[in-house]
Amino acid sequence: GEGPGLKRPYWSFEGVFGGYDEQQLRRGWEVYAQVCKSCHVLDYMHYRNLEQIGFTEDEVKEIAASFEVEDGPDEWGEMFMRPATPMDEFAKPYENDAIAKLANGGVVPPNLSVMARARDGGADYIYSLMLGYRDEVPEWVLEHDPNFELPAGKSFNAYFPGYAISMPQQLFEGILEYPDGTEPSAEQMAHDVTAFLQWAAEPELEDRKALGRYVLVFLLVLTALLYAYKREIWKDAH
Ligand code: HEM
Repeated sequence: GEGPGLKRPYWSFEGVFGGYDEQQLRRGWEVYAQVCKSCHVLDYMHYRNLEQIGFTEDEVKEIAASFEVEDGPDEWGEMFMRPATPMDEFAKPYENDAIAKLANGGVVPPNLSVMARARDGGADYIYSLMLGYRDEVPEWVLEHDPNFELPAGKSFNAYFPGYAISMPQQLFEGILEYPDGTEPSAEQMAHDVTAFLQWAAEPELEDRKALGRYVLVFLLVLTALLYAYKREIWKDAH
């Protein structure tokens, strides 16, 4: 039996002229904040980074302030909680790995900030994974391995290596409302949160592509000049 190939949706950030769609990144943040954040860290991300996807300074302040971060020690040597500021790193869902494991069937939910670069298939993989859940073990798996059994507490996912994943299905139609009114289908949310994670993994993508285009044009112009120069030098030689 053969599993399904990766889904390959359209990504605005692909191609030489590709770039991020800010509106989509903000929807992706919405999905991350309302769904993924309760289990996954986004290492190295600070609230102020959200200004890069079009949130205003005040909006970022407000978003940050809605999270509590640990600070200290204070003058009595105690740690304390306070509302986050734009300069803080994103709040962590669990105090430590032991607690994260306890809550997730023995597996720590991985950091998502580099996931789009860490896995083969990148964005296509994350998108497929989020939509890859099946209520029953499909025929093509049993054909390949008649003894396949889903361990207790795991979910079947057609795209996860080994198919048994410790993350339950997350995206169901209508679990959240988008501020921009977009219909929150599972596909839409998977697309948006994946674009957001691609941006988290590669915020410099647009600069890199702009530099690439500049270098390309520069080389074309240089080639044309050298060619004209060569013809000029050799014009009397027969
Ligand atoms: C793993 C994405 C929400 C728990 C993963 C992986 C990705 C991911 C890309 C890595 C899969 C791999 O290793 O190849 C997301 C996204 C979420 C989300 C985009 C929100 C839409 C959650 C939530 C929980 C959770 C809410 C906890 C209830 C886990 C766990 C793993 C995992 C335990 C490890 C799975 C394993 O290795 O078996 N997630 N996740 N995730 N996630 Fe999530």
